[in-house]
Amino acid sequence: MPEPKPFERLPQNIKPNHYKITLQPNLVKCVFHGSQEVDIEIKEATKQIKFNSLDLTLRDIKVTLPSEEVLVPASTEISTSNEMVTLIFEETLPIGTAKLSVAFDGELNDKMKGIYRSKYTSASGEERYSAVTQFEATDARRCFPCWDEPALKATFDITLVVPHDRVPLSNMPEISRVLHESDSNLQVVKFATSPLMSTYLVAVVVGEYDYVEDTSTDGIKVRVYTPVGKQEQGKFALEVATKVLPYYKEYFSIAYPLPKMDLIAIADFSVGAMENWGLVTYRETCLLVDPDNTSASQRQWIALVVGHELAHQWFGNLVTMEWWTHLWLNEGYATFVEFLCVDHLFPEYDIWTQFVTNAYIRALELDSLKNSHPIEVPVGHPSEVDEIFDDISYSKGASVIRMLHCYLGDKDFRAGMNKYLTRHQYGNTYTEDLWAALSEASSKPVGDVMSTWTKQTGFPMISVVSHQDGDNRVLTLTQQRFLADGSSGDNSLWMIPVSISTEKNPSKAIKEVLLEGKTTQVVLEGISENTWVKLNPGTVGYYRTQYTPEMLTQLIPAMKTKCLPPLDRLGVFDDLFSMVLAGHTSTVEVLKVLRAFEDETDYTVWSAVHNCVAHLNQLLSHTDFHSSFAAFVRQLFSKIGQKLGWETKPGETHLQTLLRSLVLGQLGLYGDEAVVVEAKKRLAAHVANTATLPADLRSPVYKTVVSQADEKTYDQMIKLYREADLHEEKDRISRSLGATRDPNLIQRVLQFAMSNEVRNQDTIFVIISVAMTAPGRSAAWAFFKKHHQELVDRYEGGYLVTRLIKYITENFASEEMAAEVEAFFHQWQIPGTERTVQQSLETIRLNAAWLQRDQDIIKKYLIELNI
Ligand code: BES
Ligand code: ZN
Repeated sequence: MPEPKPFERLPQNIKPNHYKITLQPNLVKCVFHGSQEVDIEIKEATKQIKFNSLDLTLRDIKVTLPSEEVLVPASTEISTSNEMVTLIFEETLPIGTAKLSVAFDGELNDKMKGIYRSKYTSASGEERYSAVTQFEATDARRCFPCWDEPALKATFDITLVVPHDRVPLSNMPEISRVLHESDSNLQVVKFATSPLMSTYLVAVVVGEYDYVEDTSTDGIKVRVYTPVGKQEQGKFALEVATKVLPYYKEYFSIAYPLPKMDLIAIADFSVGAMENWGLVTYRETCLLVDPDNTSASQRQWIALVVGHELAHQWFGNLVTMEWWTHLWLNEGYATFVEFLCVDHLFPEYDIWTQFVTNAYIRALELDSLKNSHPIEVPVGHPSEVDEIFDDISYSKGASVIRMLHCYLGDKDFRAGMNKYLTRHQYGNTYTEDLWAALSEASSKPVGDVMSTWTKQTGFPMISVVSHQDGDNRVLTLTQQRFLADGSSGDNSLWMIPVSISTEKNPSKAIKEVLLEGKTTQVVLEGISENTWVKLNPGTVGYYRTQYTPEMLTQLIPAMKTKCLPPLDRLGVFDDLFSMVLAGHTSTVEVLKVLRAFEDETDYTVWSAVHNCVAHLNQLLSHTDFHSSFAAFVRQLFSKIGQKLGWETKPGETHLQTLLRSLVLGQLGLYGDEAVVVEAKKRLAAHVANTATLPADLRSPVYKTVVSQADEKTYDQMIKLYREADLHEEKDRISRSLGATRDPNLIQRVLQFAMSNEVRNQDTIFVIISVAMTAPGRSAAWAFFKKHHQELVDRYEGGYLVTRLIKYITENFASEEMAAEVEAFFHQWQIPGTERTVQQSLETIRLNAAWLQRDQDIIKKYLIELNI
């Protein structure tokens, strides 16, 4: 585990109450000028004032006391490593209020953090910049000097000085606009005073945008800002946002407290979206829908992202975590609620089923590593804070909340949430505050149960043994920590709400118990010996289940006949696959079970199958019998592929559309001849403009064709990329380029990823696409080793580099490669990637052990199948 890095927190002796900030970005020179007055409260007499400030030049600093006395600091100390400035005074500043005035200058940087520049092309073809902010977690200090910790809430008056032809936006509505007194090109735009809020939620944007607007039924003015001329593309998000605000108002029993809600698409953006209060910023691909060019899966993603960021307006913005250790309260909860929202708006998406593959399984996979971390994790240094925006905070957080929601029931859960939000509005909380409110509402021991899930690393595996006692089935349940290397772990115990279903009533729990100790017995009355019994109906409990071979043998036919509901088929299968990874079961068992899915029709079950196939594919790409595996996969997907075909059927559902993209994509990638031929034909017609490819088929077609590509096809794809206007389309093309297996083309893709044709926000995803094939994997790693410094400088560390490192390293499968990766990151330590590197090393070694353990029997099985 990485050692916590020394880092100083702000002293508690001074508290900001109100900031009055004026910012004047220069969009041509890419610099900005600012000035501010902060009303502060001095709680202990002091000669020092310490606050956060980074990459800013400070001037004209003074403190005005209530007596009107003006004090100027005798000296100013700058600590770059602590991202702080200390003002040192000769006089003692007395207890009470004071006003701190400071002017500052800085650069509109190109790192997508703090206040930065984002490039676009104007209608006249000119390259221009907008100024945008991204502050979470610790970058407000790069825009204005401040007490940049979530608990130091204050109110904000923001003024922007901007060219008259640019749109100025901030968290609150505009209240006045006047000509600048000395430059008639400039306007001085003031925004209303904000409520009490944390610095990381402040935002400003200055640029050229169009918008669509509407008013929600609860009277909030909602606008979606888009690039100029693209306002039509904001309509889908506008509809989602206007419907979701009243839904949340009812769900939380608290009205959205600001008078307006703006959503804006930003051309250069490091993460997917950011919940700044009243001014939510998004990547273009997470907000804009072009009906002719947006795929069903992207539309679904946009609905989830909008739902997520708007959930934060309550959970995160109105009530905020005390410190980043409790980040999961924000992210885990918003991830849970985004599914509530989409389920409400689009019941046909069956989104709660998809939750299990999108969040739950991802969390369990990461959390089975020894180098996972507890949901609540001590963090100090900004790079440590950055690194916990991961699948534990988001997906495990959301999964344990879903489990809790099920344990409490919706009514008590909502009552507790309302108590929590009302009690702590405009304040800050610890995880315990949430448990307290939920316990009060439900009279259940929420804190006792939940702290076992948030304070301990990992999760349990429940082993089930069954015996018959007359008419009754008796189950013995035993818990132990589940670890990916198959070891039995430590003595951690969880308080686990366990539910059990049986063949008599497959979709209902007939028994619910709270497993508190190591082991317990459960008696199921009137359940005969020859019917199946299953734990965890609906796959809600955050644990793995290990059945005896006899119990599993009873369950498999129920998967095949679909007597088990989709989430239960998926749950049995994924639990089994995890047993394989941990070496408790042979891979051949999972290959056999996979064949039971040939008649499967559910999208989410297929997507779990796909996840397993992708793991196996990575592993077997290190062997000499990968082609037998490819044949196995082609056969697995062929029946459903034929059933779905290429053409959309009249009245087909959203999920059938998603399934077609998934299945054709798999068939194409694993070289199904008919699919390859058809994909080539359809792409040719698309390029020749004789038949446009529907958006849903583009990713599978692009990847299929590129995987077989020669130089000419590659050039054609680059041409398509250049001609594409919609960012989603550019992403689709650039992320399919890595599918090539040709060594020369692989080098071209890597060069292209770094070229100025690809925005910094997208570069890493193109490199990752390369790392997903066997020849690309070593090429991407070699490329990273050569360019790591350039990449780190480009992003100044942060979330994107961390993602890149994970995906380009974790699929190696030998001790030699583990040693090489380890030595490299020992020599070149990249702050904020320490835990990720440890996780990758662990995964590489697990892959190596898996390969050693099972490759011979897999080979034998596949060859004997003789597909
Ligand atoms: N608060 C985050 C944005 C964020 C992420 C800031 C990482 C700093 C570091 C936002 O609410 C968020 O979670 N965005 C997600 C999208 C969401 C739908 C899962 C993202 O950007 O990936
Ligand atoms: Zn979030």
